Order: sequence, then structure tokens, then C-alpha cells
Amino acid sequence: MKKKYARITGTGSAAPDNILTNADLEKMVDTTDDWITSRTGIKERRIAPDGMAASDYAYQASLKAMEMAGITAGEIDLIILATVTPDAPLPSTACILQDKLGAVNAAVVDIVAACSGFIYGLSFARALIMTGQHDKILVIGVETLSRIVNWKDRNTCVLFGDGAGAAIVTAADQPGGILDTYIKADGSLAHLLQVPAGGGRQPITPEIVGNGARYIQMEGPDVFKSAVKAMGEAATKLIEKTGIDSNNISLMIPHQANIRIIEATARRIKLPMDRVFVNIQKYGNTSAASIPIALDEANRNGLIKPGDNVMLVAFGAGFTWGSALIEW
Ligand code: UT7
Repeated sequence: MKKKYARITGTGSAAPDNILTNADLEKMVDTTDDWITSRTGIKERRIAPDGMAASDYAYQASLKAMEMAGITAGEIDLIILATVTPDAPLPSTACILQDKLGAVNAAVVDIVAACSGFIYGLSFARALIMTGQHDKILVIGVETLSRIVNWKDRNTCVLFGDGAGAAIVTAADQPGGILDTYIKADGSLAHLLQVPAGGGRQPITPEIVGNGARYIQMEGPDVFKSAVKAMGEAATKLIEKTGIDSNNISLMIPHQANIRIIEATARRIKLPMDRVFVNIQKYGNTSAASIPIALDEANRNGLIKPGDNVMLVAFGAGFTWGSALIEW
């Protein structure tokens, strides 16, 4: 069998129009624009209106990615959708998206790897293309985190936002594209960032609705330390595996959780911040959507040129973390 390579041939993104600023949050909880900006880098985030769900934003982002790649829905043979905020527990949001797109020839699956979900999706897509099982894969990261945020908890509610990003990954004969990926997890630290209720262990009851257990709970400083360590490790591992060091990385697109985590990761691989893409000020932390939204913005703004080496690196609940190195 002829060797195949996995190339990203289209990107797209979408977010709700509704903007929630730090000034708006000052009226909701005991916080300040100064605290949020200096501790996180976030100025505003997008919030989905009632009635809109993950598949709606995934649909908008997918259409843009398909248009850039020049493919129709019928050509897609696999949809991998990463989210922790599906439209509903059953069926998968990928199924709902398949129907919206009319991607009738696609197998479809949701994956749950929190903020690392898009990197996990790219890793699976690359492997399935290189082994000849699929040719045109739609990979999406999408979240409506506003639905699982406790709007009374200032420790978390200032951090998160909604949105979607998509990429078409296509089989190619020429070397390049997604050169390598690295994915890891440590489930022993799950309790540091979780939504405890709403599954089989703690089904939703009137008591649960009252006590906040169906919302995101996070031990911020512990998560911060692990994120810095794991994102540094993920970036370093791929540099070691591929031999492509920071001198040859044109752009790093990190998960947008906290500007201080991003800066620490860049320092760890000795990459100057002018080669690091940051849009956290506009969207906050959109979990699985953060990297594909950033990738699409960087791509559409001409910050990525053919032949450039682009490093994606993520960390999230689980814990999960990972990286992908792409020759554009
Ligand atoms: O998506 C992947 C996973 N998520 C992350 O990677 C997030 C990782 N964690 C973080 O980004 C940071 O830990 C936070 C931004 C969440 C918090 O920043 P921090 O510098 O670690 O602050 P802290 O949690 O240590 O809190 C410092 C102080 C506390 O007050 P005291 O105890 O010192 O009096 C908090 O109660 O800041 C207080 N605080 C706030 N003050 C104003 C916490 N949240 C707020 C707030 N506004 N929104």
C-alpha cells in the first residue's frame, strides 16, 4: 500500500454573537476587570443564546472548513467531534451534525478529552488516514461551556466561553501535513477539574440541582501547575520526536486557558511570544474549541504559510494533554 499523509486542507470557526465582557461580570459576581485581565488575559467571551447548542456552532464552523477545502458533505467519510457539552446525552452530537450537514457517507463519533479534545481528534484522524481507513475526515472541537458554568462561582465563571472550530483532514501522497502527534492522560487527577453530577454516579435530582454539583468545579492553582508542566512536556516531546526545534517552529497555537500558562509553555521551548498565537482576550477558555478557533483565525489572517511548522499544544480536564506538529 502506498504511504499516505494527513493534511489539513480547510479550517473554519464560529462563535455566538453575544459578548459577555469583564465589566458585565463585575455586575454578576465579586470580581474586577483588572483581576480577570491580569490573572488570565481574558477581556470577553461569547455566550450561546437559549436554544442554540453545540451542533449549531459545529455546523457553521464545518461549512466554512468544507468551503476552504473545496469538498462537499457527501465526500466526508468520518466525523470526529470533540466536546464536553453535547447537545444531549444521547445520541452523539456528531450524529446530529451529520444530519445537519447531509454527510450521509460519514461514520461519526464524539470524543471526550476536554480541552485536549481537538488534539486527540487530529491524532486519531492522522492515524486513520495513514493506515488507509479513511480519506476525508472532519475534526471538530465545540463547546457551549456557558451551560455547565456556575454563574455564582467567581473562581470559574469568569474563565469560560462558547464556540466551535473545525478542520478537514485529507489523505495526501506528498509528505508533510500532520507530521506527528503526542497524547497523554492521568485519570488520578480527575477530581481537580470536573462536573461531578449528571452521569451515572450522581444522576440529576432536585438536591443536585440546588447544590451546584452539575457545574464545573476546579482547583485553579493545582490545575495551573499541572497545565504548565504538561504543556511544556507535550511540546518538548514532539520537538524531540521530530527533530524540529523552536528555531524551526513558525507558530505555536496553544490551548487558550490562561495567558500565564501560554507564556510559561513558550518559555519552556524557548519560543518568543511573537511566534505564539493568542486570542484568549476575545473568547476566554472554550475548551475543545479553543485550538481549532485559534488555528482558523491564524490561517485566515495569513499567519500560516505553506511549509511553515505549526505546533498545537493542549491541556485539560482528565487530566489529558497533547500536541501536534503540522507542516502546513
Ligand atoms: O482548560 C484547562 C484547564 N484550566 C486551566 O488551565 C486553568 C488553570 N488555572 C488558572 O488559570 C488559575 O489558577 C486561575 C485563573 C483559575 C486563578 O488564578 P490564580 O492566580 O491561581 O488565583 P487563585 O485561585 O490562587 O486565587 C487568588 C485570589 C483568591 O483570593 P485570596 O484567597 O487570596 O483572598 C481568590 O479567592 O483571587 C481570588 N479570586 C478572585 N478575585 C477576583 C478568584 N477568582 C476571582 C475573581 N475575581 N474572578
